[in-house]
Amino acid sequence: MSEYLPTTPYRGTRDFLPPEMSVRTQVFGHLYDVLERYGYQRYDGPVLESAEIYEKKSGQEIADQQLYTLTDRGGRRLALRPEMTPTVARIIAGNAGSLQFPVRWYSHPNCHRYERPQRGRVREHWQINADIFGSESANCEIEMFELIHDLMRGVGASEDMFVVRANDRNLLASALTDLVGVTGEQLPQVFGLVDRWEKYDRETLAGHAEQIGLGDKQFDRLGDVLGAGTALLDELPAAVKDSSNLVHMLATDAADLVRFDPMIVRGLAYYTSTVFEVFDTSPENNRALFGGGRYSDLAGMFTPRQIPGIGFGMGDVTLMDFLATHGLTPQPRSEVDVVVIPVAEELAGAARQVATELRGAGLRTSTPIELRKLGKELGRADKAGARAVVIVGQEDWAAGNVTVRSLATREQQVVPLSGAASALAELLN
Ligand code: HAM
Repeated sequence: MSEYLPTTPYRGTRDFLPPEMSVRTQVFGHLYDVLERYGYQRYDGPVLESAEIYEKKSGQEIADQQLYTLTDRGGRRLALRPEMTPTVARIIAGNAGSLQFPVRWYSHPNCHRYERPQRGRVREHWQINADIFGSESANCEIEMFELIHDLMRGVGASEDMFVVRANDRNLLASALTDLVGVTGEQLPQVFGLVDRWEKYDRETLAGHAEQIGLGDKQFDRLGDVLGAGTALLDELPAAVKDSSNLVHMLATDAADLVRFDPMIVRGLAYYTSTVFEVFDTSPENNRALFGGGRYSDLAGMFTPRQIPGIGFGMGDVTLMDFLATHGLTPQPRSEVDVVVIPVAEELAGAARQVATELRGAGLRTSTPIELRKLGKELGRADKAGARAVVIVGQEDWAAGNVTVRSLATREQQVVPLSGAASALAELLN
């Protein structure tokens, strides 16, 4: 056995080296910009929460199979957050007295789920969450869908690259009970089956349906209902449709933002009506990019006050896969714009002075920590992605000058220190 510990991270978690982190910073920066332009305010919360808040409402898959739990030294049962929604519901409930509802909030937490790592699935992922609290209005649905389209545009996607598929669990429940003959007791399990519908072959699904107690005819009818698209709406009672925000939004000019799809149900237990998932239209990346929905009583775990919420979680892994599939991944930023190189160690102080000047002008500037020969330093600056260097030579410096040099064209000029930043700006443009 080696005396050294492994350098690889824990299975299903990732290290992000600076080039990758630079890509992520750019992508998330675009998303934050869009959210802020919609008036969403950023919040945060702890990674550790009481395990109970997930066990109560998130559903069996998370509670039984995916939760990382631990007992602290005081005997409290805790979990690493697998998602942000119970946390934000807790924060909203705890601060409801001082908030002006409806509130629009966003966050960017890391979440942990014990899952089998595979394409699009890891054990620690980052999730942009955007939620509205305190309104039952269908305008929330409209804003969510507009926001999703703008977020996707913000990372460079065009409309043909993704589709938002939306459903209402109450419409689905009505169709399942009235048209398929599913009993109230079977309903949660049939929701689970619908959630798996596109992930398994028909034979496997039929097996699951049989276990739930559905007959062959019911199974076929279920297939018809799920594949019916908008036509299903014609078969549902007016009262059910009347109380659906999704149906109302489908009658507005925002209807084009989504495709009504009876197959969307989502895995989490707390969604109460509208549910939606965003899909990549490329067959290469054929899985849900992200999703969300409306939850009318999650805050009810913490307060008697009724505070409905609606929102979504957009995972980093699926988003990065999407960007790669469509050639939209941005280039990592270089380490620096400029390196200031003194020709001798005695000029290190002078180089630092030049660097201070350039940083003041907004240029990302470094100086060598361990000075090497000029030729070596030029090579290192190039490798670091700098586009220019400033060389500080003995005689130049004595005369108050420095040499500014483009690494791309090798063009160079001697300029006074005070003119270095503008000479560089010209070279870099
Ligand atoms: P979720 O569908 O469980 O919903 O997760 C949201 C998104 O997070 C997924 O669509 C996916 O992009 C990403 N994600 C989830 N699990 C993993 C994983 N193991 N590996 C990589 N990515 C993952 C929720 O979490 C809800 N709390 C979202 C929400 C916010 N609903 C309302 N507001």
